[in-house]
Amino acid sequence: MSAKIVLPWFLMFSVNFCGLHAQNSSTITLGSSITAGTNASWHSPSGDFAFGFYSISGGLYLVGVWFDKIPERTLVWSANRDSPAEAGSTIQLTAGQLLLTYSNGTQQSINSGGAPASLGLMQDDGNFVLRDVNSSTVWRSFSFPTDTLLPGQALLSLQALYSNAKGTTDYSTGDIRLQMQYDGNLVLSTYHFSEPGYWWTGTTDIGSTEKNASLVFNQTAFMYLVNSTGQIIFSLTRNIPNPVEDYYHRATIDDHGNFQQYVYHKRNGSRWTRVWRALEDPCLVTSLCGVNGMCTSVDNETISCGCIPGHTNLDPSDLNLGCRPETPVNYCIGPSMRNFTVEVIDNADFPSEDNGELAKIENVDLEGCKNAVMEDCYTLAASLEFSTCYKKRMPLLKARKSASSIGIKALIKVPMKLTNADAIGVGFREFTFQELYRATNGFSKILGRGSSAKVYRGLLSLKGAHIEIAVKKLEKETGKSQNEFMTELKIIGRTHHKNLVRLVGFCVENDQQLLVYELMANGPLSRSLFGEEDKRPSWFQRAEMALGIARGLLYLHEECETQIIHCDIKPQNVLLDENYTAKIADFGLSKLLNKDQTRTDTNVRGTMGYLAPEWLKHAPITAKVDVFSYGVMLLEIICCRRHIEVSRVEEESEVDDLLLSEWIISCIVSGKLEMVVGHDADVLSDFKRFERMAMVGLWCICPDPTLRPSMKKVVQMLEGTMEVGVPPLLHYHQL
Ligand SMILES: *[C@@H]1O[C@H](CO)[C@@H](O)[C@H](O)[C@H]1NC(C)=O
Ligand SMILES: *[C@@H]1O[C@H](CO)[C@@H](O)[C@H](O)[C@H]1NC(C)=O
Ligand SMILES: *[C@@H]1O[C@H](CO)[C@@H](O)[C@H](O)[C@H]1NC(C)=O
Ligand SMILES: *[C@@H]1O[C@H](CO)[C@@H](O)[C@H](O)[C@H]1NC(C)=O
Ligand SMILES: *[C@@H]1O[C@H](CO)[C@@H](O)[C@H](O)[C@H]1NC(C)=O
Ligand SMILES: *[C@@H]1O[C@H](CO)[C@@H](O)[C@H](O)[C@H]1NC(C)=O
Ligand SMILES: *[C@@H]1O[C@H](CO)[C@@H](O)[C@H](O)[C@H]1NC(C)=O
Ligand SMILES: *[C@@H]1O[C@H](CO)[C@@H](O)[C@H](O)[C@H]1NC(C)=O
Ligand SMILES: *[C@@H]1O[C@H](CO)[C@@H](O)[C@H](O)[C@H]1NC(C)=O
Ligand SMILES: *[C@@H]1O[C@H](CO)[C@@H](O)[C@H](O)[C@H]1NC(C)=O
Ligand SMILES: *[C@@H]1O[C@H](CO)[C@@H](O)[C@H](O)[C@H]1NC(C)=O
Repeated sequence: MSAKIVLPWFLMFSVNFCGLHAQNSSTITLGSSITAGTNASWHSPSGDFAFGFYSISGGLYLVGVWFDKIPERTLVWSANRDSPAEAGSTIQLTAGQLLLTYSNGTQQSINSGGAPASLGLMQDDGNFVLRDVNSSTVWRSFSFPTDTLLPGQALLSLQALYSNAKGTTDYSTGDIRLQMQYDGNLVLSTYHFSEPGYWWTGTTDIGSTEKNASLVFNQTAFMYLVNSTGQIIFSLTRNIPNPVEDYYHRATIDDHGNFQQYVYHKRNGSRWTRVWRALEDPCLVTSLCGVNGMCTSVDNETISCGCIPGHTNLDPSDLNLGCRPETPVNYCIGPSMRNFTVEVIDNADFPSEDNGELAKIENVDLEGCKNAVMEDCYTLAASLEFSTCYKKRMPLLKARKSASSIGIKALIKVPMKLTNADAIGVGFREFTFQELYRATNGFSKILGRGSSAKVYRGLLSLKGAHIEIAVKKLEKETGKSQNEFMTELKIIGRTHHKNLVRLVGFCVENDQQLLVYELMANGPLSRSLFGEEDKRPSWFQRAEMALGIARGLLYLHEECETQIIHCDIKPQNVLLDENYTAKIADFGLSKLLNKDQTRTDTNVRGTMGYLAPEWLKHAPITAKVDVFSYGVMLLEIICCRRHIEVSRVEEESEVDDLLLSEWIISCIVSGKLEMVVGHDADVLSDFKRFERMAMVGLWCICPDPTLRPSMKKVVQMLEGTMEVGVPPLLHYHQL
């Protein structure tokens, strides 16, 4: 630390701390010392201030000066805030030096570089000074402020106060600075951000080419700026209680980045009371809650740090540290482009400097501002002030909800967190048409259409969560009374199985009948199975799907409270969720759409190719129709081939492979089932299972429904817990 300080003339005369004239002080002579941990200290004559080792947390000490008569023993200066000393360390005035000796032996001279000192003084104004043999001051603590100024002290041009690091017990140098700039401006800033600061006096134009202004805290506790000729150019303190000498005074840059002046009544005070502060709104401090943090203050006094929506604390044990996105999303790429919601926070603001602002749009309302955020993938946030929408980019350093953001709306893009209905405990429920209209954006995105219904994609927001849904709008009159319709619906609504698509709810309003299902992220099985070859599910996934579907059907046939015959099992009616779990869709619709399943009916339900022969033979319809369709589909799943595939007929092929089942049978009969598999190494490595599944498929497609196994047996055979006999179809062929 440098000792040579040239005082401006106004301090020489108005502030009497040169000690040449009478000032009560106790003298510390050469050889005096204090040891950390002993409570010994050097007091000022009045006892108001003490110099010595100030105890901080962790059994550590700072060499410093503090108010000694008040219970708080408030520290006002320290020599080693960034390297505290342990018990046993000493401070000694020896050989011209004020020497700190750490307990490990390392020594540090507090007045190094200055003229040799021969005595020290703890003055009643809180200044600790060193003097030479001729009683000239060679060093003073007032010249090296830390975070506090006292009356009689000044912050000279280019000097700065630094806050303590965040957290109340740590006195080390923090990142908030109050600097007396050379240009005459007094500025509060977080100095590691290249931002211009969040509070300033604006006194850069002080009428002279010679700047060199200072912040003065005068003897009667007023703070103001003076220019190089000593004239007041800016006043900070407005009032202080009288009489001034009844109070202790200090001005400190606090841990939350505000610069404040306090008083403490000497006789009957119980705490420091604020008489002035730089910022009325404490949330105006830049990055008080860290990057992407959100500062909230309802009373201009207390502060709480949270995160802007869609973000989570970097360190849950230190909420000031800032926040990171829960899901990092690039809104300008791929499917995430519209995968978000725009959240609006009232009376909040995302202020930013010019470089954080993308554009401003005049004369818009909230919807307009929202749309501006939605339509521009680069814009992640905005604030709407009156009718001006300011588009912002991330990161946000000053997000706040406080006095200075009243009347402003903050908008932010938040990635949609999709969940499923089970996860948030949504039971089967009735929806209004309006709800579904909104959820599907006016039935704008069609997912598919069948003979009796159109299916639309939608998004439900329930309990603060988002669920993607498929809304099936029935087009034909069901011909059922509302009661009958509801009875059927409730049966479907009560089904719960891992391999069934979940019916979330329904809507019956006017002539509209709508069913609401959870959306299955990977679409119909037919698309995966018969789509591009490299996107097909693996053999192991397919085997798992086949078993899952069988279990779903078993549940419908035997395990739910009323037997449900599907009547239209095919790969288009099996959907895959995000984990490629196969789920049967559209079950129960057959009955809902007024088909009497037990009656012999010329009105065929189902799809050619998957239809059991009894549909055409006027025979009774039983659950075995589903077993037949399942069998056809099972062969398709294991072979990744349509049952009827015209394009596959090869000219030279010896066998007629037009029908998948025929082809498989002829391959088995000729002992070359491997031919069916092609070059799938996975299947070849698991060929026994493939063979078993093919046999089960052939059992299921027996023309005689009584010979077909039940789904229970199908599951057991697939699981390998039941022998698979030779299917009757093979007997016919071998005969
Ligand atoms: C500014 O004032 C300080 C003392 O207050 C003095 O040491 C310094 O020389 C002055 N600088 C200029 C450029 O006047
Ligand atoms: C220092 O002072 C505190 C409080 O007055 C007391 O509890 C402690 O025992 C003292 N320590 C020593 C070493 O005197
Ligand atoms: C300073 O000392 C004088 C006498 O030495 C005494 O009258 C006066 O009260 C002291 N001042 C303070 C502030 O202690
Ligand atoms: C001694 O302790 C101080 C304070 O903790 C530390 O700054 C210094 O590096 C240490 N010196 C040695 C030699 O360990
Ligand atoms: C003290 O004053 C004497 C006489 O004026 C002078 O010779 C001496 O150099 C001074 N010492 C210091 C350390 O300034
Ligand atoms: C200091 O400020 C006063 C009052 O504004 C002004 O008259 C004077 O010229 C200033 N002095 C300098 C050196 O700028
Ligand atoms: C301190 O400043 C205030 C306000 O400018 C003034 O009224 C008061 O007289 C000053 N006190 C001293 C001791 O200069
Ligand atoms: C101090 O105490 C006295 C008597 O109880 C009271 O009149 C006075 O207002 C108090 N002063 C302060 C600053 O609280
Ligand atoms: C907070 O301070 C602002 C001035 O910045 C003031 O308008 C507002 O009334 C204050 N609010 C409260 C609750 O004190
Ligand atoms: C939405 O985002 C989630 C997570 O990033 C992703 O899993 C999902 O496929 C996306 N959906 C759409 C429709 O983009
Ligand atoms: C998909 O699998 C993951 C990991 O096992 C699980 O957390 C998630 O809930 C599954 N999704 C569905 C829709 O079951």
